[in-house]
Amino acid sequence: MQIIVINGSPRTNGLTAAVLHRIAARLEQNGAEVRFIDLAKLEIKPCRGCCTCYQTGSCIYQDDAEALSREIAAADGIVIGTPTYVSNVSGLLKQFIDRGHFVIEQLLHGKYAVSVVTGENYGRRDASAVLGRLFSYSGAYISGRLVINAPFNSLQYDGAGAVAAADRLAADIYRKRTYPLQYLKHQVIFRAGIRPFVSRKGECYRGVTDKWEHAGI
Ligand SMILES: Cc1cc2nc3c(=O)[nH]c(=O)nc-3n(C[C@H](O)[C@H](O)[C@H](O)COP(=O)(O)O)c2cc1C
Repeated sequence: MQIIVINGSPRTNGLTAAVLHRIAARLEQNGAEVRFIDLAKLEIKPCRGCCTCYQTGSCIYQDDAEALSREIAAADGIVIGTPTYVSNVSGLLKQFIDRGHFVIEQLLHGKYAVSVVTGENYGRRDASAVLGRLFSYSGAYISGRLVINAPFNSLQYDGAGAVAAADRLAADIYRKRTYPLQYLKHQVIFRAGIRPFVSRKGECYRGVTDKWEHAGI
């Protein structure tokens, strides 16, 4: 069981990182092989919107975003954490989301996902909804969502939610749990939205259809 844990906070020792490390440690106790990634330590260029990836399957930039996206494709589960920045995910995380080949390519097809959002006043749920849509549109089963309210610079977090979320994620992966409502919702999004859109693009989206074929979609 391979799980990628991604910290989308620019602060590698902040609250988001602390919660994610609790989750990672618990996942390891559950027998998972965990890769903990601080996005702040990676080189990730902003997407320039050339759409080459849809045609060829890979980005014109061979930086850390490409390597991380490939690691996610090979994993069973993913945990993404972010602080709330202006009622949204951090810019650092958004930059990776734009480059990560998530939605059109169905990067998270059949995988299990947990989101973690921290914040100190308003907008945490908006940021959590952004990650919820990302997971759902990318084909993941959402195993859990943590939304944590704490003052800035406070690392006081009891960890109970983190332990429960990690246990549930590990159990979902072991048992290959199906979430029928989530499955149905994703089928509608994929069949009515993403697939017809990609078919209309024809050869220009050959890189996408090749990835679907490889993933058994
Ligand atoms: C630029 C910036 C914008 C922020 N915007 C919000 C916000 O809209 N809502 C909120 O609840 N907290 C906001 N915060 C507070 C952080 O989300 C919060 O303190 C978070 O837990 C910090 O996580 P970290 O310790 O992992 O960096 C903001 C912080 C910064 C630096």
